[in-house]
Amino acid sequence: MTAEPRDPSAHTEVHRVADPSSTRVASYLAAPGEVGRVLLLYSGGLDTSVMLKWIQDEYEAEVVALTVNLGQPGEDYDVVRGKALNLGAIEAHVVDAREEFASEYLRPAIMANANYGDGYPLFTALGRPLIAKLAVEYARRSGCDTIAHGCTGKGNDQVRIEATVATLAPELKVIAPVRSWAMGRDEEIAYARKHGIPVKGGTETAPYSIDDNLWGRSSEGRWIEDLTHAPDDDVFQLVTRPEEAPDEPQVVEISFEAGVPVAIDGERLGLVEIIDRAAELGIKHGIGIVDHIEDRIVGLKVRDIYEAPAAALLLPAHRELERLVGTIHQNQFKPELDRKWAYLVYAGLWWEPLREDIQAYIEHVNRQVTGKIGLKLYKGLARVVTRESPNAVYDAQLATFAESGGLFSQSASPGFIEIWSLQSRMARRVRDGAGG
Ligand code: ARG
Repeated sequence: MTAEPRDPSAHTEVHRVADPSSTRVASYLAAPGEVGRVLLLYSGGLDTSVMLKWIQDEYEAEVVALTVNLGQPGEDYDVVRGKALNLGAIEAHVVDAREEFASEYLRPAIMANANYGDGYPLFTALGRPLIAKLAVEYARRSGCDTIAHGCTGKGNDQVRIEATVATLAPELKVIAPVRSWAMGRDEEIAYARKHGIPVKGGTETAPYSIDDNLWGRSSEGRWIEDLTHAPDDDVFQLVTRPEEAPDEPQVVEISFEAGVPVAIDGERLGLVEIIDRAAELGIKHGIGIVDHIEDRIVGLKVRDIYEAPAAALLLPAHRELERLVGTIHQNQFKPELDRKWAYLVYAGLWWEPLREDIQAYIEHVNRQVTGKIGLKLYKGLARVVTRESPNAVYDAQLATFAESGGLFSQSASPGFIEIWSLQSRMARRVRDGAGG
């Protein structure tokens, strides 16, 4: 190794700040003096409950709690609201955002066959921009200057929430106590005990880290971090394990209009109800389990166990119908845009104009995606068994091996083949000639 001659003055050019932690790394982060009233995204769990108290003590600030219902199963929102008020929140709001989530976020996701990294249907990624948008609305309405969330500094969710707040509300600041405080789980429990915050469940083993909504559920942490550890049964709290699913298959028919599912087995339902119904069917038949290694936006590679029963029925049905009504050119092109759409959503850039541009194309294609797909559900699998569409680019008369009645002249095919293969044949001859 040969060292470059150094400029001796470089040593004296080092700049120091008195307290490095007092330097804000992003303009939207709140300095302690700026925090007067905080809109806290409150789930009712340990982290955000400790935060609710900690923010009041640490900043001497008021807290307005906001809990967003995106269809998390088994949540008692009255209990969550009561808990927030007990812990000193000056207001506690619960918003039922299921309809908006379905119509503005899941509808385009279905049209985009949305999937990141070959298996993750983006339920969390789709929910965060809506949660953060609602946080902005309620913060403004309740006169808050700051939004607080419970994300850690290692995940994608901090990116999704803070990118949304910074984009939609440049006047609002953000604090992320879990990212900055030095408390581990044991210290959080001790803090909770000391401040009379109820801690539910046993405290010996840390629970899985769960996030869920209408579209799916993720589990992280514990043995999931050991890549050699096959899933323990207790992680599956939503979907029946396939080996325990019914021995009888079930066929269901999903109807779509312009890319949106509108009926199951002929019964017309709103999108939220369709998703609930599809989830029930998937849950029963053990469908939608994904054991996934994921490339996070912040660079980490992490394993997640997903249970996404509704997505596991509706996405393959949609994709099949879309392929039936699309031309070969559309069918080759669209997956590239779908992938880009999913990546932008995954990466926390829901408000990026390119996402809307791509979505405009996706919606245009989906005008044709009307028809019915039959799925056979059986022990963990949903297999397409029937297809039907007035817009299918399909003609049984043409496709048949039997005589097409003059519609497709098989005797014209050799002429096509000669022209189609022209460049390939020429290239082969040139290379063969050059090679010797
Ligand atoms: N890995 C998924 C994602 O990045 C799920 C994250 C779940 N979030 C959570 N806070 N547990 O979207």
